[in-house]
Amino acid sequence: GLPARVRIHEVGPRDGLQNEKTVVPVAVKAEFIRRLAAAGLRTIEATSFVHPKWVPQLADAEELYPRLTGQELDGVRLPVLVPNARGLERALALGAREVAVFASATESFAKANLNRTVDGALEMFEPVVSRAKREGLAVRGYLSMCFGDPWEGPVPVTQVVRVCRALARMGCDELSLGDTIGVATPGHVRALLTALGEAGLGGESPRLAVHFHDTYGQALSNTLAALQHGVTTVDASAGGLGGCPYAKSATGNLATEDLVWMLHGLGIETGVDLDQLSATSVWMAERLGRPSPSRTVRALTGP
Ligand code: HMG
Ligand code: MG
Repeated sequence: GLPARVRIHEVGPRDGLQNEKTVVPVAVKAEFIRRLAAAGLRTIEATSFVHPKWVPQLADAEELYPRLTGQELDGVRLPVLVPNARGLERALALGAREVAVFASATESFAKANLNRTVDGALEMFEPVVSRAKREGLAVRGYLSMCFGDPWEGPVPVTQVVRVCRALARMGCDELSLGDTIGVATPGHVRALLTALGEAGLGGESPRLAVHFHDTYGQALSNTLAALQHGVTTVDASAGGLGGCPYAKSATGNLATEDLVWMLHGLGIETGVDLDQLSATSVWMAERLGRPSPSRTVRALTGP
């Protein structure tokens, strides 16, 4: 069966904006996050404490995070990405309560994204996760390239299970399975979730989340397959913002509006006001100077 409620992990301000050519002014980012919260999103990934040269779009994290105050943001979870001890230090200094490390299922992407081997990256995360847990923070472990890799092709399920196990052993509260280049199809999603279940992953802790990109138009089908498999946390990006610098066709994350349209159609609660969310994405698209690629945003707000 399907869940009665799905928690949407909104990644637009982080995963979306990190891939935009334009560097968005910090005041616009803060307003974007407030508007997303006002539209009912309760988990909004705010920014990354990574090396500013690697992701210049998010180099203003120190300026942005303290601006995330106000009534709309009461009770809203604002996770941030931290790759290493330095990143965690920066996040803790600003009072972050929720962090995410981001591993790779493939060697090529570990090298490209983290300048490490797969295991070298896991070694880098281990003290970060244990310190974060000691500080009482919630910790998410992302895993990129869970289905295919632009350099290595299809990714074997066993390879993904191995890294998921390592992230679970470290103490991650949640694992987000990333289809970074958007090549997954529902059969592959079922195969991976089945293999994870057989490895003892797929229960309450760590919770599994899914993170689909819409490159081949499969993100919603993949999401439905995951929901049928018991997943109740889904990552999405408002207006379909972002892309992946390593994917041939830079189609972005699953658009939050497309996800909400499907979930509400299935009678699944999200707490999101779809019209208000679409209006927010249109507002953001105007700031970026290009229309939202989300079909739902266009259908609801177009001429
Ligand atoms: P490195 O070059 O190996 O870094 O990069 P290092 O550890 O050798 O340190 C070099 C210098 O960087 C040092 O400075 C450090 O202090 C500094 P120096 O002593 O030379 O002056 N440094 C930092 N400065 C600020 N903040 C930090 C930090 N760390 C080191 N946190 C590193 C290694 C991990 C830092 C780098 O590769 C990096 O920042 N990578 C981040 C890349 C990234 O953010 N990618 C996007 C997120 S992942 C994603 O989007 C996928 C996802 O959405 C899911 C999906 O779709 O699949 C999550
Ligand atoms: Mg992504």
